[in-house]
This record gives sequence, structure tokens and C-alpha cells, in this order.
Amino acid sequence: MSNDRVKALVEDLERLLLDFMRKHRITHEEYRLATVILVGTVKAGEESLLYDVFLEAEATDIGNDGREGSPEVLKGRSISPTLLCLRRPMCFLSGSTRLVTFCSSTAGLPTRQVNPWQGLGLDLWQADAEGLYSNIHPGIPDWNLRGQIRSDANGTYEVQTVLPPPYEIPKDGPTGRVLSALGRHFFGPAHLHVKLRHPSYGELTSQIYFRDGQYLNSDVASAVRDGLVASLKRNENPEDLSAKGLSLPYYEVRYDFVLAPHHAHDARRVA
Ligand SMILES: [Fe+2]
Repeated sequence: MSNDRVKALVEDLERLLLDFMRKHRITHEEYRLATVILVGTVKAGEESLLYDVFLEAEATDIGNDGREGSPEVLKGRSISPTLLCLRRPMCFLSGSTRLVTFCSSTAGLPTRQVNPWQGLGLDLWQADAEGLYSNIHPGIPDWNLRGQIRSDANGTYEVQTVLPPPYEIPKDGPTGRVLSALGRHFFGPAHLHVKLRHPSYGELTSQIYFRDGQYLNSDVASAVRDGLVASLKRNENPEDLSAKGLSLPYYEVRYDFVLAPHHAHDARRVA
């Protein structure tokens, strides 16, 4: 980010905050309380949580404006170089990975095509059956339910994993106290994290939510968008269960990704 951009943003933010203070007649006591909350987020290890809950979804919405292809959403955290560790296999996530390309037609005009893409890298991570993340929550095996795969020769992918419950953000720190003061709950709907990686098109970070899931319309981070919600299908067919070697009903989720050239621009901008 250039110094000119930083100057323009900070000065505008300063103006907005000063107007806000004047509008609400913010007292010095209230001002000091706000700084204590902000400093407290760092001391509590929540240096990004408070801002992610209230602001991050807007930043990804702005990035999605005018784009084609799959939408991006909250970025989430780190990826493991290992395969998924499966503890309760009950959910099958599958779909296609396609790439938007432009070719010159015989008339010399660019022709848009969307084709399956073989070998597209997918990073996947999620909470376990108790709603806990490895490498974040204590007591969970390192890199549990984090892994990387590639789409196959047909540009499709499939992962067998567990169905996570709604996710409860940490509620005992400053972020939780702010949400409590606002009368809000601490939950986001159940979701799977996915990051697509292409050497030229860059990365696409997304989350997949489940239709009719709890908190879908009241996500604590306000991140749910129509294009991110997939149908969850319960399968009790004995033949299908037998074919997969399962004794209990399982769930199927399909989500198709489209990676467009604009993601390459985003990757360069971030770098
Ligand atoms: Fe998550």
C-alpha cells in the first residue's frame, strides 16, 4: 500500500471518528473505555478477532464487487501440508474446479470459456465434531482436519470428512464482552474452509455453509452470502452405505468452484 493511500485512508478515518465522537458527545470516560477494550483484545490474544467479527466480511464483499467466478469470504487461518486426519467420517464434500479463460476467436474477438481444470490445489480446513480447530484450540491433535488435495483429471474433487457443528467464537475476552453488550450471540453457522491455488490465477479463499443450517441468518461475523451456501443431503440408502463401508447415514455436499483471472490481480495486489 502506498504512502499516499495510507494518508488518504487514515485522514478520512480520523475525520469519521471525530465526527462520530462529536455526534454522540463521547465523554473522556467513554473514550478511555474504548481504548481499554482495544488494548485488551491484544492482551487477550484477540488482536484480529474483534475486527474480523465486525468488519472483515465487508472487506471481502468489496473485493467481490464486479467479479465473476466463485466469491471469496473470510480468510481464516493457516494451512497444513498434511492430509486430513479423519476421526468421524460422515460427510462427503465434492464438486468441480473450473477455470475462466479467454481465447481469440476466428473473428479476432476474445471468447470466454469455462473449462474443468486438472490438478488445481485445494487447501481444506474445518472444526471437528465438537466445533474445535487444531492449532487453535488446546487438546486437539496438531493439523487435525487440515489438509491439501488436488482436483483430478476431470477437474473434480472429493473429500471424506466430518460434519462440523456451528462455530462459537471465544466469548470470555473483550470481543465476547462487546457482543454481550450488544445483545448478540457468539455463533457462526457450521462451515468448511477452502482455499484454491493456481500458479497464474492466484488464490481464492472461501467458506462453504450448509443450507438451512443454524445461525445462517445471524452469523456473528455477518459473512454468509448466497453463493457460499450449499445443500446438505442426508443419505440413508443401504446400498450407498455399503459401497462406502459405512454403517451410519452420512451427508453429501456439492460445491463447484470457478476461478477467474481477477484472482491473479488480487494476489499481486496483496503481495
Ligand atoms: Fe471457521
